[in-house]
Amino acid sequence: MDPKPIITVLFLISATVIAAQEYVRPPPRKALHFPWSRKPSSLPQQVHISFAGDKHMRVTWVTNDKSAPSVVEYGTSSGKYSSVAQGESTSYKYILYSSGKIHHTVIGPLEHDTVYFYQCGGQAPEFQFKTPPAQFPITFAVAGDLGQTGWTKSTLDHIDQCKYDVHLLPGDLSYADYIQSRWDTFGELVQPLASARPWMVTQGNHEKENIPFLKDGFQSYNSRWKMPYEESGSSSNLYYSFEVAGVHAIMLGSYTDNDEYSDQYRWLKADLAKVDRQKTPWLLVLFHVPWYNSNKAHQGEGDGMMAAMEPLLSAASADIVFAGHVHAYERTKRVNNGKSDRCGAVHITIGDGGNKEGLAHKYKNPPPEWSVFREASFGHGELNIVNSTHAFWTWHRNDDDEPIRSDQVWITSLVSSGCVAEKTHELRKILTEP
Ligand SMILES: [Fe+2]
Repeated sequence: MDPKPIITVLFLISATVIAAQEYVRPPPRKALHFPWSRKPSSLPQQVHISFAGDKHMRVTWVTNDKSAPSVVEYGTSSGKYSSVAQGESTSYKYILYSSGKIHHTVIGPLEHDTVYFYQCGGQAPEFQFKTPPAQFPITFAVAGDLGQTGWTKSTLDHIDQCKYDVHLLPGDLSYADYIQSRWDTFGELVQPLASARPWMVTQGNHEKENIPFLKDGFQSYNSRWKMPYEESGSSSNLYYSFEVAGVHAIMLGSYTDNDEYSDQYRWLKADLAKVDRQKTPWLLVLFHVPWYNSNKAHQGEGDGMMAAMEPLLSAASADIVFAGHVHAYERTKRVNNGKSDRCGAVHITIGDGGNKEGLAHKYKNPPPEWSVFREASFGHGELNIVNSTHAFWTWHRNDDDEPIRSDQVWITSLVSSGCVAEKTHELRKILTEP
């Protein structure tokens, strides 16, 4: 048999594979222009929801009318609201800016895996959201460093096309950067998604907005994006935890004290002591500044937090750690203490939501042994936790408006690999240390 046709076919296949791997990165996109003007009414704006303890959801919205009530009417049929809840409100001033009335109203108890229809402040329009399931499978959409550019819109459009239950955001939301009306435009931009699924966020450097001697940090962030910190025993909106469908998720603060003597560290120990891996086999952790990062951007910025907290998270067998800050995507092997470790966490940097600062293109070479996949492109991730042992992670680069699945991997839980059982004594020891 003549081998030439076979060689030709093999050559064509390999050429096609190489061509498919070559990726031409699209150019940056400009910031979206919003003709922001105050709406002269009690019209609910910037509506978003977040978990507020077991079976409860916090509905947040803004009105310009300071007399608008903080009331949410809700029910499982459109236009028929069988329940009503009264909430609280706040507002803030920032130099010459005065915020609208920011309403926070907790509703519930809610059924699992159910569509609810709701109205804010007794005003149309009607919104709707779906509660997450009681058990696996559950899907998280993950994207950090969002901002409000054409690429942000592209990322949000792709997330909107996927079937997911909860959005996880590891910091850097609006890129308002002191211009407070940009928090309002960001709220409007994300409302279609954030009013329909819980958005669970933690802070990044762009949330700080502190001015020495004049303004403390996080005023706008804490006023607008109230997370369930009280519900999870924390004294700060900058770190908290929540549980959903067999997952315990810990949202940490890269920009508040995080050494071994900090309140955050004490709270983390207390929170880990409450985790029951029978009930929540998966342990997820999010914060802004990555600990495992082979991009040249932001090298070493997470070292202090890592030195303090990685031993604790390792003893607690955290499965997956999500970070942002670096405007690119990177996934590691299971790692601990700077190297591969079968009982360590998978670290995923996903600060590529689409902000105005653009991508971080330069990488350290050769890559560290723990780095599996890295690419400077905008996109989002989806974590589908199938059961107590298996999860399927995919990363989708935006690629000119096509949601291409660029990286994918099955992740097995540390419960199923025996690591949680192996580390029982180590965890008990570290949690009982004074
Ligand atoms: Fe950042």
